Amino acid sequence: MRVAACDGGARAEPLLSIDRLDVQFRLPGGGATLKAVDGVSFEIGRREIFGLIGESGSGKSSVARAIMRLAPIASGSVTLAGIRFDQLQGRDLRRHRRRVQMVFQDATDSLDPRMTIRQALAEPLRMRDASARDAPENIVADLLHRVGLDESHLDRKPRGLSGGQRQRVAIARALALEPELLVCDEAVSALDVSVQAGIINLLLSLQQELGIAVLFISHDLGVVAHLAERIGVMYLGRLAEVATAESLTARPRHPYTEALLAAEPEPKPSSLRAPRPPLIIGDAPSAANPPSGCRFRTRCRYARELCASEPPRLRPLPDGGLVACHFAEELVLEGRRA
Ligand SMILES: Nc1ncnc2c1ncn2[C@@H]1O[C@H](COP(=O)(O)OP(=O)(O)OP(=O)(O)O)[C@@H](O)[C@H]1O
Ligand code: SF4
Ligand SMILES: [Mg+2]
Repeated sequence: MRVAACDGGARAEPLLSIDRLDVQFRLPGGGATLKAVDGVSFEIGRREIFGLIGESGSGKSSVARAIMRLAPIASGSVTLAGIRFDQLQGRDLRRHRRRVQMVFQDATDSLDPRMTIRQALAEPLRMRDASARDAPENIVADLLHRVGLDESHLDRKPRGLSGGQRQRVAIARALALEPELLVCDEAVSALDVSVQAGIINLLLSLQQELGIAVLFISHDLGVVAHLAERIGVMYLGRLAEVATAESLTARPRHPYTEALLAAEPEPKPSSLRAPRPPLIIGDAPSAANPPSGCRFRTRCRYARELCASEPPRLRPLPDGGLVACHFAEELVLEGRRA
């Protein structure tokens, strides 16, 4: 059973609250900056799985890295359980850092090839309890079981495991620090579809058994909609829409979300049904030089004059979602095909 879905906006006592977050990178040569994230706000409830989707370059990883204090925050705030996480320094930062852990796309990069799985899991446990020289065997075994592996994997090195098993070890390492929030950045994107399903089910069971919240980032709407209760759709550094997975896929309110749904593969391929034509064409404009007004306007089939001059605000709709489109109330958009 999933935690009851709630609206696209605020929840009581969120675990994570991101408010008007700006992440900027200085471009090489000259003083120009690139706004990878531009005024993004959303909240994640305790035990909630929140999905973030969008094309390559839309700023998903920059949001994740800003939360982890790995990307430069130009303005805005990241609050974790009432603490200004973006302002923590020194000892306070070390003390609270373990509360948010990240799992990356390729566990090969985050696991030391020379370490056995036993050593890889013992390392974060020692960080958790600096006085314990050796990680208790039963905690390591428990971690392995939680992620669907067993003691037979303990003395293997990462290269002796499959991609899916390596990703399970990366998740176990993150869990060793008992985080409240797990940030998964394209954590299943490099895996085969059948292996992806196993990791997704693992994340669902961890959310239920351990009560952790998950920020699940992917460019694959199908995967995110299967896992997340609410989804934020990013386009060129901004949020275009936030809604429950159900509402977002059945009744998208932003033309970009409609286009993403139209690009999904057919659930039941049928020779009788004409394929849907693509609703957006071409690549996204560069984040270094975004269009004026609505950033989606150069690819939006509903764009009008106002869209070039006025940037649409992310605003609440009566049905509970949030949308950044001037004409959301009057557009009749097509959802996912049954
Ligand atoms: N360290 C950096 N220096 C300069 N520009 C960067 C840096 N990191 C990201 N960017 C730029 O910021 C924008 C957002 O990148 P980001 O990696 O956050 O997007 P993404 O949505 O995660 O994309 P992908 O789906 O490819 O992972 C892009 O235009 C990217 O080129
Ligand atoms: S504001 Fe205009 S350009 Fe932007 S999504 Fe809505 S209709 Fe399209
Ligand atoms: Mg990324």
